Formats: sequence, structure tokens, C-alpha cells
Amino acid sequence: MKKNKTVRFKETVGIDIGTHSVKIVHLKKLHEGFKLLNYEVRPTVPQGVEYVLSDLRPERYAPVLVEMLKTLRISPKQIKHLVTSIGGDNTSIKQIKTIFLPDEELESALFFEAKKHIPISGSDMVLDYQVLSVEEKTNNMNILLAATSKEVLNEHTRILDTAGLHPHIVDIDSLAVANSFLLNAYVEDGVYVLLNVGAHRTNMVIWGPDAKFFARDIPYGGYHFTTDIMRKRQLEWAEAEEYKFKYGLLDDPDNPTVQTISMLDITEKSTEDAIAEELRRSLRFYVKEAGNSDFRKIYLMGGGAKTKGLAEYLQDKVNVPTEIFLPFINVEMPEKFQDKKDPQLALAIGLAMRIE
Ligand SMILES: Nc1ncnc2c1ncn2[C@@H]1O[C@H](COP(=O)(O)OP(=O)(O)OP(=O)(O)O)[C@@H](O)[C@H]1O
Ligand SMILES: [Mg+2]
Repeated sequence: MKKNKTVRFKETVGIDIGTHSVKIVHLKKLHEGFKLLNYEVRPTVPQGVEYVLSDLRPERYAPVLVEMLKTLRISPKQIKHLVTSIGGDNTSIKQIKTIFLPDEELESALFFEAKKHIPISGSDMVLDYQVLSVEEKTNNMNILLAATSKEVLNEHTRILDTAGLHPHIVDIDSLAVANSFLLNAYVEDGVYVLLNVGAHRTNMVIWGPDAKFFARDIPYGGYHFTTDIMRKRQLEWAEAEEYKFKYGLLDDPDNPTVQTISMLDITEKSTEDAIAEELRRSLRFYVKEAGNSDFRKIYLMGGGAKTKGLAEYLQDKVNVPTEIFLPFINVEMPEKFQDKKDPQLALAIGLAMRIE
């Protein structure tokens, strides 16, 4: 539901803190749409060497954020509107249906409802919701429930706090993905599949103007493409990363033969195959759950979307037209950024464009 609220700020900042990179987008609000003032993408993981995610500490983020803001010449105190997001294991978004309830009853009813749908223990749960529609015939309400745990939220605000940042809105990754798409695409009827391919996970959102919202995370991303290349092509991490940036999933045209170490390596499933399978499984589930199979397009965003051959691979395996999503339809790009349209910024742009 849209509230008609006057917007009091002229500039907005969206920050997407990923496990691999931090993305900051600084936008100016125009009469209609936005203008990109500046942006920055910076990795937070060791470069050139293989790392184990669980060994990396959340303390690594604040210094990166401070440096990025300096580069962008943004003083944390001057930010009038900051939107960030959280994602991962203890966050969840679900569309549910309830009987019509007045406001004062709705919240407590949803809390109990949420506990049924969302695997977070009751006392630790932070809940938000949005009434999407009230069905005319039945008077039932369609509601989008967003939940996370106090611990996840506290950890997120602690990181931002250390960098002097205080968000006005904290969104959930998959909602920001949907928002970025909704505000930057020519959406027709039907159902769209959005894949935000990160480094360690891929947020999948299935959504359409009249279709049920569905979101889940697939535990694969760019990190796994690199480790596949290491294994398949017998390369060190740094070489495999270089290979990935150059050829992605494709063969090096000058050296197309792949030596495998053992039979096991040939039979082991590739990351792209695992993603395609999870995707197919989710689409099947969606068709059953939502009774809608009008899939129009798969859009890829996130750093992993840039992996050469990925869009073609998924299109072939899932049989739905697939393309890379460039979130700039309603974001005016100054000349100096014209050739820098980057799907890795999609989520941060969705955040910065969230003004209410
Ligand atoms: N041009 C490119 N080709 C292939 N992969 C790329 C390219 N650019 C970035 N990547 C990969 O994209 C990933 C980073 O993307 P992104 O910033 O979306 O992830 P993240 O948000 O930090 O991770 P997550 O969402 O999993 O927490 C890395 O694995 C990186 O190697
Ligand atoms: Mg991410």
C-alpha cells in the first residue's frame, strides 16, 4: 500500500553490505525518478587468495564503509535518507493470506501466523508487514510478512554504527531486489523471476503485478564458480578468479581442453547446474502453490550475473528467456557513468530508491 508522504530529502543513499563486496549508491531525487550522483563497489574479502567465509569477521566491514564514504565524499552526518538491508539465514519474507482483521488485531495475529511460517523463535523475532490487497469477494487479506531476528538486526546496526551510519530504513534483501526491479523495469502481466547472484548466495524472488510473491535463497554464487574453475581446470584461486572474470563458464578458446583430476570431478555437479536445478524446483513449487506458470523472464543481477555464459546456461536449462538486469530505467546516468551500468548495483539502487 502506498502512503502519500511528502519527501523531505533531496538525496538518498543505499548501502548493500554483501559477504564479498559493499555497494554504495548515492542518488539525487528528481521531480520524476532519480539521478546517479556517485557509487562505489569494494570487496571486503582477501584478494588473490582462497578464503573461508566463516573465518572472516564482521569487523572487516566498518573500515571499508568509512573508506568508501570518504572516496564518495559523503559525510555520514549529512545523509538525510539512508536505506540498508539484511539477508541470509535468519531473515524471511512470505506472502500469506488471512481473514480480514482490523489494525489493532492484525499485528498480534500476524505474530502468531509468522511463527508458523518463519523459522525464527518467537521471543527473538522482529516482524514487519505490509497489506498487499484485500480480496473483494472473500474479504481476505493478502499480506507480505517480513521477519528477522533481533540478533541479526543488532549485528547489522552495530556494523553501521561503528562507521557512523544510522539507517532510516532497514529492508530485507529479497524485498529490495523486487523493489529495484519494480522501479526500473517495464513490467507487463505475468510472472518474473529475479536472481540476485552474489558471492555466497543467490536471492531468488518470484513476483508479478498480480502474482504471489515468493522468495528464497539458493546457497551458491560467484565464490562457487571460482572453486569450480579451480577444480575443473586445476588452477590456483587467483588464476581461477582471473579465468572467471575473463571467460566465466565458457572455455578458453585458446585452450579448450579441460583436464580433470579424477572421474569424481567429471560427475560432480557444477554450480550453474545446481542453481538451475534449484530454480526449476522452485518454479515447480510456485506453479503448485500459486497456480500461475506464466513465467515471462528471468532477470540476473548481483556481481555473479556478470559471469559470462550464465544467462545463456539458465535460459537453456530452465527454458525461460533470461537476461541481465540493468537497474537504470528510472535512474538518470551522467555522461561519465554511461558505460558503467552494472547489475552488481541493483540491490543498492533498489535500496536508495526506497523513499517510504
Ligand atoms: N565480471 C564478473 N564476472 C564474474 N563474476 C564477477 C564479476 N564481477 C564480480 N563477480 C563476482 O561477483 C561476486 C560478488 O557479487 P556481489 O557483490 O553481488 O556479492 P555479495 O553481495 O558481496 O555476496 P552475497 O550476496 O552472497 O553476500 C563475487 O563472487 C565476484 O567474484
Ligand atoms: Mg549480495
